[in-house]
Amino acid sequence: MEIRIFEDAASLGLAAADIFAQTIKNKPSCVLGLATGASPIPTYNRLVELCNAKEISFADVKTFNLDEYCDLPKDDKNSYYTFMHENLFNLVDIKEENVNILDGNAADAEKEAADFDAAIKAAGGIDVQLLGIGNNGHIGFNEPADAFTTGTFKVKLTESTLQANSRYFDENPMPHYALTMGVGSIMDAKKIVLIATGPAKAQAIFNTVKGEVTPQVPASILQQHPDCVLLLDKAAASLL
Ligand code: GLP
Repeated sequence: MEIRIFEDAASLGLAAADIFAQTIKNKPSCVLGLATGASPIPTYNRLVELCNAKEISFADVKTFNLDEYCDLPKDDKNSYYTFMHENLFNLVDIKEENVNILDGNAADAEKEAADFDAAIKAAGGIDVQLLGIGNNGHIGFNEPADAFTTGTFKVKLTESTLQANSRYFDENPMPHYALTMGVGSIMDAKKIVLIATGPAKAQAIFNTVKGEVTPQVPASILQQHPDCVLLLDKAAASLL
């Protein structure tokens, strides 16, 4: 793993956006894996700026999002569908048919998951995957578990994740289930960029980088990825 440490979240966002912008410039029809949460917002803001300045275009880019809540209306303010449209898709020239977000309300979750994996494969695989990290070391919604997960699946969220994310839910209650790409799907990406900011992530980052590779810290498997870069601010890197 390559580790790069930044002064603050803003400079980290510029660096992360630069990696995605270069990917788009080198391969205009690239396939991007995208993430939600507070961490990627500066990255998306910068990509919007670059697109407005006509330095990059999403016209031929395809995207796959890591995860989505179950049992939450698609247009709820906390759905990842809404998040992605408000923070990126509505602000750039991407074609809606090239946007792939899991349907957390699908009647048949297993089919939804299998179709999603098949669509990633049909698109030629993910060129660059953006990741945040949960306070408990989760990636996507792959929670600490007894074994690493493989493909996309429906997951029950842990108490730690419910606590970390419940602050956003004031209208509808926070869902207890989500659909997520599996650890195997994430590891299949050709390149991975993990971003983490703030002191709450310091222990998870320490366990990811210095700890043993274990499904109890799902992000620790990134030690085995051939092309993975961690972009950290000083607080997230403070225990390294
Ligand atoms: C959620 C998402 C993850 C994200 C994590 C951290 O649980 N499913 O993909 O990495 O939150 O979010 P934040 O960046 O807001 O700390």
